[in-house]
Amino acid sequence: MIEIHNIHKSFNGVQVLKGIDGVFETGKTTLLLGASGTGKSVLLQCIVGLVKPDLGSITYDGKVFTNNRLDLKQEIRRKIGMLFQGSALFDSMNVQENVEFPLKMLTPDMTKEERLDRVEFCLKRVGLEAAHKKMPSELSGGMKKRVGIARAIAPNCTYLFCDEPNSGLDPLTSIKIDELIYEITKEYNITTIIVTHDMNSVIEIGDHIMFLHNGLKLWEGTKDNIMDTNVKELNDFIFANSLMRAAKRIEEEGGDIDKL
Ligand SMILES: Nc1ncnc2c1ncn2[C@@H]1O[C@H](COP(=O)(O)OP(=O)(O)O)[C@@H](O)[C@H]1O
Ligand SMILES: [Mg+2]
Repeated sequence: MIEIHNIHKSFNGVQVLKGIDGVFETGKTTLLLGASGTGKSVLLQCIVGLVKPDLGSITYDGKVFTNNRLDLKQEIRRKIGMLFQGSALFDSMNVQENVEFPLKMLTPDMTKEERLDRVEFCLKRVGLEAAHKKMPSELSGGMKKRVGIARAIAPNCTYLFCDEPNSGLDPLTSIKIDELIYEITKEYNITTIIVTHDMNSVIEIGDHIMFLHNGLKLWEGTKDNIMDTNVKELNDFIFANSLMRAAKRIEEEGGDIDKL
């Protein structure tokens, strides 16, 4: 479980995060939802430790991350898997080498054979059995994400962070990647945080959703009650999409799908 309290962050005098609280539960996918530029990625970067908050605290399973104890920070960092926007694979390494890389960095005691076994296991888990020797340039967008996920979970991560895992993917591939992240979260009891602006992800995998707007958390809840909120900014966000508007209208009129 990750807990954040009163997170503030400004850049050049502009307040991006204005005091955000939240609890991210173990074995669940929590989505940070919101329009572009609302501070979702900055919040994720604060939680991971890539950006230092100006104020506030972050706790990983009771261990305070936002203090100056470098050894504690490193211990937590070793348990973090990160799927970056655009996958961020190393172009000069093949798939196998990409997934092996964090093992070389984080678990120096592992033998080469143990590393390759783990790579094999992770690539199988993400459904990429026959791509070990392929270079990133030979992969489709969905395959790159799969390699990114395999690389993130390779060191047995306890916490998994994904920034816009669906960006650049077609709708069907997006759903498959969402489902994979969701299944892995449940299977290994990971605390997963996903940054997204995609309502499809909300409907598919949103165990818990936090809606951010202009650096504030305006709402949180589940996929089952997100359609029934009175928060104007959230409604504007959800129902910007005409299909979502039609679904809402039908629900209000008694659920006749033929009217869509
Ligand atoms: N390193 C940085 N330096 C200055 N401004 C930044 C930096 N990172 C993000 N910002 C600004 O913070 C705001 C929120 O950005 P971001 O968290 O990336 O939004 P999003 O919700 O789309 O992920 C934006 O206005 C962005 O320009
Ligand atoms: Mg972002």
